[in-house]
Amino acid sequence: MASHRDVLFVSLVLLFFNPNRGNGLSLSFSTSTGIPSSPLLYGFMIEDIDHSLDGGLHSQLLQNNGFQGDNPGLTAYAPVGNAVLSEDPSNPVSSAITRSLKITVPENTYGDVGFSNEGYWGIVVTENTYNSSFWLKGSYSGDATVKLVGKTSSIEYASETIHVDSSSNSFSYFEVTLSTRTAPDGENLWVLVFDAEKVTGGSLNVGLIQLFAPTYNSSLFFRPNGLKPELAKPLEDVKASFLRFPGGNNLEGATEADRWKWNETIGPLENRPGRQGDWGYPNTDALGLMEYLLWCEDMELAPVLVIWNGFSLSAGGATPFTGSALQPYVDDVLDELEFILGDTSTEYGALRARYGHPDPFPVQHVEIGNEDSHNPKGCETYPERFMAFYNAIHNVYPDLILITSSSDPQCLPKELPAGVWKDFHIYTDPDSLVQDFNYFDNLDRSFPYVVLEYAVSQTSPPSNNNAIWPYMQGSVAEAVYMIGMERNSDLVKMAAYAPLLAHLNYSMYTPNAISFEYSEPKVVLSTTYYTQKMFSANRGDTILNFTSNEEFGPLYWVVSKHSPTSTYFLKLANYGADTVGVYLTIPGTSEGTLTVLSGPADEFNSDSNPNNIVPKLTDIKGSEGTFEVNLPPWSVAVLAMK
Ligand SMILES: *[C@@H]1O[C@H](CO)[C@@H](O)[C@H](O)[C@H]1NC(C)=O
Ligand SMILES: *[C@@H]1O[C@H](CO)[C@@H](O)[C@H](O)[C@H]1NC(C)=O
Ligand SMILES: *[C@@H]1O[C@H](CO)[C@@H](O)[C@H](O)[C@H]1NC(C)=O
Ligand SMILES: *[C@@H]1O[C@H](CO)[C@@H](O)[C@H](O)[C@H]1NC(C)=O
Ligand SMILES: *[C@@H]1O[C@H](CO)[C@@H](O)[C@H](O)[C@H]1NC(C)=O
Repeated sequence: MASHRDVLFVSLVLLFFNPNRGNGLSLSFSTSTGIPSSPLLYGFMIEDIDHSLDGGLHSQLLQNNGFQGDNPGLTAYAPVGNAVLSEDPSNPVSSAITRSLKITVPENTYGDVGFSNEGYWGIVVTENTYNSSFWLKGSYSGDATVKLVGKTSSIEYASETIHVDSSSNSFSYFEVTLSTRTAPDGENLWVLVFDAEKVTGGSLNVGLIQLFAPTYNSSLFFRPNGLKPELAKPLEDVKASFLRFPGGNNLEGATEADRWKWNETIGPLENRPGRQGDWGYPNTDALGLMEYLLWCEDMELAPVLVIWNGFSLSAGGATPFTGSALQPYVDDVLDELEFILGDTSTEYGALRARYGHPDPFPVQHVEIGNEDSHNPKGCETYPERFMAFYNAIHNVYPDLILITSSSDPQCLPKELPAGVWKDFHIYTDPDSLVQDFNYFDNLDRSFPYVVLEYAVSQTSPPSNNNAIWPYMQGSVAEAVYMIGMERNSDLVKMAAYAPLLAHLNYSMYTPNAISFEYSEPKVVLSTTYYTQKMFSANRGDTILNFTSNEEFGPLYWVVSKHSPTSTYFLKLANYGADTVGVYLTIPGTSEGTLTVLSGPADEFNSDSNPNNIVPKLTDIKGSEGTFEVNLPPWSVAVLAMK
């Protein structure tokens, strides 16, 4: 099994061919020994933070469309014509959408009257077919016109008039198809106007307005209420393996009442009340439980479902639910799992089928809570709460892998049941993350780990980057840490950078892997995004043993083999200011590709310079299986060799 002969042969080859090897790293490895690598190693963590979902990845384009959350006010709305607008709680659209927009039309008003919505700091309009809809209540029979217009130019990029008959007794639903033409920027408004003469001196109520451009994967398989293609595509390119959702803190709620409730995020949008999210803005929950699962289906991601476990963020002051008070929430999670996994003869499995998905979703991983160790009362009560959920879930679904929300032994049951995985999160500065390179090398291996949140979160690099953007040194530090995890991917089953996406007009938490804005439409892929993509898209199934002439640091590496294609991947991170030569021999290989991401330590991609640092791909040839690569300072590299 051990291939000492290989190693000896390789070393001799290196000695012969590489007289400079004292100045660089000489790596030789065994092509036959190694450890298995987790097939799920790299994936995504998503929660609605920084408008990553509402106003971000989710495709509905109008903001505050259902007046959800604690205090929505008239955010994003403005009157058109002589209208007077107010938020109206006495005219709910449905039992879930409890407010609408009241349009009061003064006496003697003529022409168009109505309102505009500015979207999420802009609405991108391109030549296509958009769908729009609204609910209307009030005595009116006449034209209603939906338009997309330039905010300052007033140029119309779409306009469609329909005849509507509505009554003052109840809301009616109307849909409009818009043929759009391309607007030069995103400074556009969605406008709905009525004929003032027909409502002068009266009022109308409009609720749950919506605007959709074509969604991700719509050409092959239309997903109504789906994802925005321009953000979904870069995610697809990562070739990730899993998606952890729906939080994060955003699952927890400020209070128990504000928590994410699965059964309020499914079905028709007018059935979804939304909630005050934990990151400062209302959540519509239009991207709800089924949309997360369909996203997993479309991108072939293993869903990692996080469940609410009796702990809300205010538990710093209040006490988490324990004992019999926990039981209703345990029962609620069993209902949720039946909705996802149950066959159509079950109550909630049948509901899933009614909502368009007769087949169960392939959930195999469930995390019980989020970061319970971050709070003394959370930590203290976690052993009991974990076991209550563990026992109930394991009893019905013995094959599910259940994950603890922390790896701190103080917060875990004394006797953790066999088969449980532990979640460990880390946010820190670059040097500290690099120092933790070997964190997983010597851990007890009886319970697998997942690292479902990590990032360089230090927001003040050597030169000021306005605390917004991932920068090269930080991304190299993340690569070093990822090499540490990949080397140990018998133990570390999954890892996800966080946060993933941010709207630049609402970034309360920075940095993020991908940022976007609409006024000047832009998607900024950071150095961290590219690092994630390079590592995730180039994966082997076996991590190979090696010998080297140097210790780790400032250069770090890991070598894997993808057995089905006999491809070898060498991942490298140069966490230093000098160029380093690497000499590598892989018997039997002769050519490959080299992808390098590098730049000055404190540089970054931003909205003003989105392509400052991008990966460069070159073909390389080996001589007798020996490859020579010069790694620039502050770089992340992947060699793929055949
Ligand atoms: C290969 O590496 C693994 C993990 O570090 C180690 O347990 C094993 O002994 C190594 N095998 C050889 C042949 O060096
Ligand atoms: C608009 O609605 C129609 C009918 O439901 C559907 O076929 C089309 O794909 C929708 N388009 C968008 C952009 O939502
Ligand atoms: C959601 O489930 C809870 C707990 O079973 C229940 O009290 C509530 O009425 C449900 N809500 C909806 C909208 O079905
Ligand atoms: C679109 O979705 C369908 C159905 O889930 C899937 O078979 C197909 O591979 C997807 N296409 C792309 C480009 O993601
Ligand atoms: C949104 O943010 C971008 C980038 O900082 C800025 O240029 C733009 O003016 C902002 N838009 C609005 C509507 O505030």
